[in-house]
Amino acid sequence: MYAGISTLYLLLGAGASLWLNIPNVNAHLTAWHKGMYCLDGVDPGVVDYNSAAAVTPLYQLTKSDWWFHHINGCDNFPPAGKNFVELPAGGSFIVEIASNRAKTSLSYNGSETSDWPDGNTYPEDYVRNIGQYIYLFCLIVHTQNQSMAAGTAFAISYNSDIHQVTAENLVVFSVRYNTPWKRITSYDVPAAMPACPAGGCICAWGWVPNGCGEPNIYHMAYKCRVSGATSTTPLAAAKPPVWCEGNQTACTKGAKQMIYWNQNDGNNVEVDGYDLEGSHKSPPYNMKLGFQDGESGRSNREHNS
Ligand SMILES: *[C@@H]1O[C@H](CO)[C@@H](O)[C@H](O)[C@H]1NC(C)=O
Ligand SMILES: *[C@@H]1O[C@H](CO)[C@@H](O)[C@H](O)[C@H]1NC(C)=O
Ligand SMILES: *[C@@H]1O[C@H](CO)[C@@H](O)[C@H](O)[C@H]1NC(C)=O
Repeated sequence: MYAGISTLYLLLGAGASLWLNIPNVNAHLTAWHKGMYCLDGVDPGVVDYNSAAAVTPLYQLTKSDWWFHHINGCDNFPPAGKNFVELPAGGSFIVEIASNRAKTSLSYNGSETSDWPDGNTYPEDYVRNIGQYIYLFCLIVHTQNQSMAAGTAFAISYNSDIHQVTAENLVVFSVRYNTPWKRITSYDVPAAMPACPAGGCICAWGWVPNGCGEPNIYHMAYKCRVSGATSTTPLAAAKPPVWCEGNQTACTKGAKQMIYWNQNDGNNVEVDGYDLEGSHKSPPYNMKLGFQDGESGRSNREHNS
C-alpha cells in the first residue's frame, strides 16, 4: 500500500500522466494514541510497531463485527497499563491520524513521521486544484482537498467496561471539521465534562469518508478519562443525528450519537438523493448533520424530547 503511494508520488514528480495509471490503493486512517485499543496489533503477546490492524475500514458488516472494530478482534486488545486518552475539561487533546502505527510517534521514535498521515511529504499548493493533486489527496485522506474533508469526531461513554457501551450512551463530545488532513489533530473538550468512573471511560473515534472510494466508516475504541472536571451533571442520552442541511430546525437537538452508516445492521442514519452542492449525500461530522465544530458540551447536556 505504501509502496504504491510512494510510486505514485514519484510518478507525479516526474510529471507522468496520473489519470491513466492510478494504482488501486486507498489510505485507510485512524486516530493513534497510546490509549487506543489494538495499538500493538491483534497478535497476542506481540508488539507490532508496523501495525495497520486498527485502520481497516468498516463496510457492510453486521453490528457485532463493525462495532469497535470487532471484525479483527481489535476490541479484545485494551491499551496497556494506565494508558488513557487524557481529556482536560475545557482544554484540548491531540491524536495522530495516520495510516499505520509506523507513521506515528508511537513507533521508531517517530522517525517515519511527517506532517501528513502517511509519512510522506506533499506540496502545500494543492489548493490550486490541479487534477493530479486531487487524485493524490484522494489516495491519502479520502478527500479532494481540505475543504471537502468530511470531519471526524470523538465520543465518550461513562462506562469502564467496553461491553457496556451502546449507541445511546456513547455521546459525541468533540468534532473537528475538515479532517482527516494532517497527522497531528486536536480536539476540544467541553468544560462541563464530568469525571469518569474509577476505571475510566470508553471513548470512540469516528469518520465517514466522503467520496474517493468505498463509502465506509471508522469506529475505533480508546480508554479515556476526564481531568480537571468540575461538573457532575451527566451527559444526556444520545439520539441519532439526521440530515438537516440548510434547515437547522430539522437537526437533532442535544446529545448526538456517532454516525453509523452503510452497514448490514446497526445503522442510525439514512440518506438518499443529493446534497445542496449536487453530490450524493454522505453523512459527515458537520452542520449537514447538525454537528458543530469543536466541543459540543452545551448540547451534550440537553435532553432530546
Ligand atoms: C529511540 O530513542 C531512544 C533514546 O534516544 C534509543 O535508545 C532507542 O534505541 C531508539 N529506538 C529506536 C527504535 O530507534
Ligand atoms: C475542493 O474540491 C472541490 C471539488 O473538486 C472544488 O469544488 C473546490 O473548489 C475545491 N476547493 C479548493 C479550496 O480547492
Ligand atoms: C425544516 O425542518 C422542519 C422540521 O423537520 C420542517 O417542519 C420544515 O418544513 C423544514 N423547512 C424547510 C424550508 O424545509
